Amino acid sequence: MADGEIAGKSKEGKNMKKRILTGDRPTGKLHLGHYVGSLKNRVALQDQYETFLIVADLHTLTTKPEKKDTEKLEQNIRDQVLDYFSVGIDPGKGTVYIQSQIPEVAELALIFGMLTTVPRLERMPTLKEVMRDAELKIPSYGLLGYPVLQSADIMMVRADLVPVGKDQVSHLEITKEIARDFNRTYGEVFPVPEALIPEDIPLLPGTDGVRKMSKSAGNDIKLSNSSEEVEKKVMSMYTDPKRIHADDPGTVEGNPVFIYLDAFATESDKIQVTRYKDQYRKGQVGDIEVKKYLAKILNNFLDPIRKRRAEFEKQPELVDKILKEGTQKAREEAKKTLEEVKKAMKLDYFD
Ligand code: TRP
Repeated sequence: MADGEIAGKSKEGKNMKKRILTGDRPTGKLHLGHYVGSLKNRVALQDQYETFLIVADLHTLTTKPEKKDTEKLEQNIRDQVLDYFSVGIDPGKGTVYIQSQIPEVAELALIFGMLTTVPRLERMPTLKEVMRDAELKIPSYGLLGYPVLQSADIMMVRADLVPVGKDQVSHLEITKEIARDFNRTYGEVFPVPEALIPEDIPLLPGTDGVRKMSKSAGNDIKLSNSSEEVEKKVMSMYTDPKRIHADDPGTVEGNPVFIYLDAFATESDKIQVTRYKDQYRKGQVGDIEVKKYLAKILNNFLDPIRKRRAEFEKQPELVDKILKEGTQKAREEAKKTLEEVKKAMKLDYFD
């Protein structure tokens, strides 16, 4: 998008930043894959846009509604927002809020549910994936409605743009359909939101070389890992399995050690990375040396993150306050939106 398109104009004619909504289900501590896949981008976007960041705890209930799961949410939320703030998401710039504390979102989702057919939801590719991963044979009504609830999140704050990964594009399609459908049926209330899919984001493989880093596969390096933990994980990383001796020519392409180096080396490290790649291909450097170097690069990257985390960890009341105020602010938006929705639908009987 061209720079000039970022600033919209409000009705009063003053310049207003476009609004973004992003977020995650609170599943706990985040890892380097999250950083590369979304957090880095969010940090970059927070200056250009008015940002809302949702902690989508209700969405976790679609597959994990049991008490043993719900009782973990509070801690997971804490861990996750600490990760957000540690990587540089600035609570002074955007609004971080907890979905379940905004009852209006459920009401909007209920209304949107009336504009969405069951077969449309049954066709969602994400539904099949989630059911397969969670080993569910039959979806709950709530799980089927996952994209409807997500649409309510997005439209509740009237987001213009939703930065999401490719896996979420099908959800955004439904959101757009609902927005258009609502506007056509009851009058223009919602901007039709667009997915903002960042270009060339590398998919970070796991430390075991498996396609994607994930907590459930146990192949992740967490943003909150200590330098010793990072070093240990890196030293046991999967590299080129065909390489047995340090003087065997090795493969750089698809080798997770080099993928991580490319993702986390700073500008000034790049010359050394190129040198190692060259030596590795020729069998002139051992895996251990390159891994030690990678551990150093990752720890250099994580050190400022650790420092910021320690600052926020010292002030749990501050984190509470940020979440509380963010949720209050988002709720104000939610109330305004719902009022307009009901007015447009002629459901505003007592006004
Ligand atoms: N479905 C998103 C995910 O799993 C989380 C989410 C819920 C979300 N509501 C949202 C993302 C609204 C963006 C906007 O990653």
